[in-house]
Amino acid sequence: MIDETTGALPVEGMPAARVLDEIRALRAADRPTHGGRLFAYVYDPGVAGLDELAQAAYAESAHVNGLDPTAFPSLLAMENALVGAAARLLGGGPGTSAPDVVGSVTSGGTESLILAVKAARDARPDLTEPRIVVPVSGHAAFAKAAHYLRVALDPVPVDPVTLRPVVADVAAAIRPETMLVVASAPSYAHGVIDPVAEIAAVAAAAGVRCHVDACFGGWTLPWLRRLGAPVPPFDFAVPGVTSISVDLHKYAYAPKGVSVLLHRDPGLRAPQFFAYADWPGYTMVNPVIASTRSGGPIAAAYATLRHLGEDGYLRLAAVTRDAVAGLADAVRAVDGLRLLAEPESTVVCFTADDPGLDLFVLVDELTARGWHTQPQLAYAGLPASVHLTVTAAVAPRVAEFGPALAEAAAAARAAGPVVLPPELLALAGSLTPEALTPDLIGGLAAGLGLGAGPAPDRMAAVNTLLQAAPVRLRERLLVEFVGLLQRPTW
Ligand SMILES: Cc1ncc(COP(=O)(O)O)c(C=O)c1O
Repeated sequence: MIDETTGALPVEGMPAARVLDEIRALRAADRPTHGGRLFAYVYDPGVAGLDELAQAAYAESAHVNGLDPTAFPSLLAMENALVGAAARLLGGGPGTSAPDVVGSVTSGGTESLILAVKAARDARPDLTEPRIVVPVSGHAAFAKAAHYLRVALDPVPVDPVTLRPVVADVAAAIRPETMLVVASAPSYAHGVIDPVAEIAAVAAAAGVRCHVDACFGGWTLPWLRRLGAPVPPFDFAVPGVTSISVDLHKYAYAPKGVSVLLHRDPGLRAPQFFAYADWPGYTMVNPVIASTRSGGPIAAAYATLRHLGEDGYLRLAAVTRDAVAGLADAVRAVDGLRLLAEPESTVVCFTADDPGLDLFVLVDELTARGWHTQPQLAYAGLPASVHLTVTAAVAPRVAEFGPALAEAAAAARAAGPVVLPPELLALAGSLTPEALTPDLIGGLAAGLGLGAGPAPDRMAAVNTLLQAAPVRLRERLLVEFVGLLQRPTW
């Protein structure tokens, strides 16, 4: 464990082996990144030797700086190769209707989305109050982009059955100040693909850019389509789609830190860049948010794509598709559980129709059995749900998941729903974020077992409390609870 008296910086340097032992000891508390039992955060293809290759490639380029592509042409070459591969997969490049596609490699989906919003905003300096139209199923990173960039967000509800926005609602939300309309392919929460062609058409008719957030699914939908799945048009083949994001650290199975943001042509991309020459230092031009950037993630992604190849991704997509079908069957087999959406990508999302079966308790029961799923709070008429991101490594586990889910559901029923003290629930329902005092937060956190150190094994009470709170209070509580965790080790 970390030496409580010195933090990360001992007075005398430590031998390498001991340092690594420390890290390994810390890592033992983490959720398992491999092995197909963690249905969020990680993307594991289960391909022998791939980790070692990516690590070697990472090490090769870890100290290379993406700040200046003329100083490190290796990085520029690899970035351009990644952008080309992503563009080709998503309907762009020579011989397509989008031959001039260009792009940038970013650190992740959030950065890609922030830059898509920035490019759209800065292309419209005439707008004093620029706005973006985003279905509520769009990733939270759009709200973050709007917040960071001082852009107004016009949310569009989703149909509670299809979980997609209604195109007429998207059209109605577009105003003269709108400079970007968003569609997801698919949404993270439910894994459903928005009506991209129709949304892009209404955006184009209004003269507004349309970004397709394919961060999650952009690297799987094309392979699923090749395998015969009925994937609707969502990429540059759709007129009106001006930019697309796809994360290589998700279904391209690259280590974390790599996403690609594509624009249909260089003119659309230009306002994404930031250049500065009005200081006495080096002339600066940054295509992305970061200035100094490690070459490690880019080289690792490059190695991953080269090693897996089209045949590899196609095979992994087939394995994943079958795993999704198996997991969906497992959900259907449990009384009281219901798929929130029929899987059309690589997400299985289910809810509970039976009030005796508390989903948050079920999630804890699954965790206790070594299966890590992701609870999603009830929101705007949509019920609470459980999200499973399915990757290829899940396939060998599918047969075990069914019985584990049934057992966990029985245990959750036996335990009964979480019952929080009525006064606590009333407080959560009525408190305003401004009324939260440090004492109140400390008391709440202590009551829920939160504080310094790892989160408790059972999170059902925390989720129940958050769910009882209005959205703004949820946000504030999250900030406060995580703030309690982020304290320096002295
Ligand atoms: C659809 C979608 N967009 C954006 C993001 C944000 O990506 P990141 O976590 O890499 O910033 C995610 C992450 O899950 C996503 O699923």
